[in-house]
Amino acid sequence: MGSRKLVRDLFLSKQLLHQLIQPHHQVAESRLPLISSNWVSSSRRFSVRNESSKKPEGEARSSPKFKQSINELKEKAAELKLAKEELKMRTKQTTENLYKRVDGAWKEAEASLKKGRLLTGATISLLIAGGAYASTVDEATFCGWLFNATKLVNPFFAFLDAEVAHHLAITAASRGWVPREKRPDPSILGLEVWGRKFSNPIGLAAGFDKNAVAVEGLLGLGFGFVEVGSVTPIPQDGNPKPRIFRLREEGAIINRCGFNSEGIVSVAKRLGAQHGKRKLAESTSTSPAPDDEVKHQGKAGPGILGVNLGKNKTSEDAAADYVQGVHTLSQYADYLVINISSPNTPGLRKLQGRKQLKDLIKKVQAARDEMQWGEEGPPPLLVKIAPDLSKQDLEDIAAVALTLRLDGLIISNTTIARPDPVSTYPVAGESGGLSGKPLFTPSTTILNEMYILTRGRIPLIGCGGVSSGEDAYKKIRAGASLVQLYTAFAYGGPALIPQIKAELAECLERDGFKSVHEAIGADCR
Ligand SMILES: Cc1cc2nc3c(=O)[nH]c(=O)nc-3n(C[C@H](O)[C@H](O)[C@H](O)COP(=O)(O)O)c2cc1C
Repeated sequence: MGSRKLVRDLFLSKQLLHQLIQPHHQVAESRLPLISSNWVSSSRRFSVRNESSKKPEGEARSSPKFKQSINELKEKAAELKLAKEELKMRTKQTTENLYKRVDGAWKEAEASLKKGRLLTGATISLLIAGGAYASTVDEATFCGWLFNATKLVNPFFAFLDAEVAHHLAITAASRGWVPREKRPDPSILGLEVWGRKFSNPIGLAAGFDKNAVAVEGLLGLGFGFVEVGSVTPIPQDGNPKPRIFRLREEGAIINRCGFNSEGIVSVAKRLGAQHGKRKLAESTSTSPAPDDEVKHQGKAGPGILGVNLGKNKTSEDAAADYVQGVHTLSQYADYLVINISSPNTPGLRKLQGRKQLKDLIKKVQAARDEMQWGEEGPPPLLVKIAPDLSKQDLEDIAAVALTLRLDGLIISNTTIARPDPVSTYPVAGESGGLSGKPLFTPSTTILNEMYILTRGRIPLIGCGGVSSGEDAYKKIRAGASLVQLYTAFAYGGPALIPQIKAELAECLERDGFKSVHEAIGADCR
């Protein structure tokens, strides 16, 4: 506002000066009131002068009043000139500032636009480049990426309660939200046991998929075989929660689940539905397996399926429970397991005694054999034993197994022992069975003893503390034809499976073995 007033004053004073300096031109009195208040006095004086201008021109010019007015006006003009300069300077400064600001804002806008464009451009380029690269990489590389990517979710699972994490993992596998192994197993890992071809000897142990809800997804991870159960005849809840305790520092778990099971009928329905599906998948497969690759086979479609049978907690007749399991579930199984080694069902482990075991196996074998079987014959029957057995117990079991021509033994279940350093942790006080790394040595020791006692005549599945290909290799050298794991898989997730298989193949090649079969029991020769 101040600058505007200054400009207006400047304009009027300029006009006034002009008129004074050229007195021939009469200034219209009527225009003077327009002049600002600063100029009222001057205009008055001017009007006085105007009156005097009626006098002859020379006389008026030489009058002292006129001279004084001229001087005053000159002073005013000088003032105005200064003000004009100041205004000019200020206007210049303001304009410059304005320019600077606009320029700054423009540059800022340009920069952020550039940044945004850069980001969008980079994302699109990455997507295009990623897509283009993914389309050029072979299926095997892509599959490897997917398996490795599953490691990213491990910390999230570790954060959850053990049983919640397990439930989530099973749900993911049942819905196919897990990677599918598309790479053929190395041919050195293929082997035949009980007339069934395994593309690799690494299996998932019982207890992970107790109710057979995720068989397809789990086999799809690349396990050579998956064992479901333990399944009890009548549904039961198992022990109260919490009942699974992690001991991450030692790569171990203590559990006292106590055979939580949906029961044989529910599992049979599920396996029946999958049976059709898996059969269909096998017969409609259009891609023939390469020559050096062992084809998946088995009653229930691609991949080998074991069914692990348990007994109800309150049941008085253990044998009757296992017989019921055989009647209802054996038609879906590539092999059957009698689990008599869980430490969480009272009295169960007593069934490992010589006489009880003999009676039990006889009854179950009879139940299986009296069923109608096709060309393939009945599924092989195995017994799963504990790692907490004396030398005498092992000798008894070996004798019964040989006498009754038992098809196999799984060695071992969890241990009730708390070896060092497990015993130093507070969680060691929880009752239940210990699994994972601390179980590796005791279970491998009795596996080896049993291999020697049975003179290598009975296929053994080595289970307990396997977390690497080297561990699996040690089990095989100790006498295992096949290997199972649970705890390491619970900690390591799907990425562990291809890793173990690759490491095992390396171990075999390193020591000059041409197949898994050649390495079985190598430590006893
Ligand atoms: C939480 C949990 C539940 C289990 N449930 C069963 C089961 O129902 N039946 C069975 O035979 N073994 C069961 N097991 C034992 C495993 O099958 C396996 O024998 C044992 O964990 C040793 O293997 P690992 O050290 O690789 O875990 C269970 C193990 C765990 C950790």
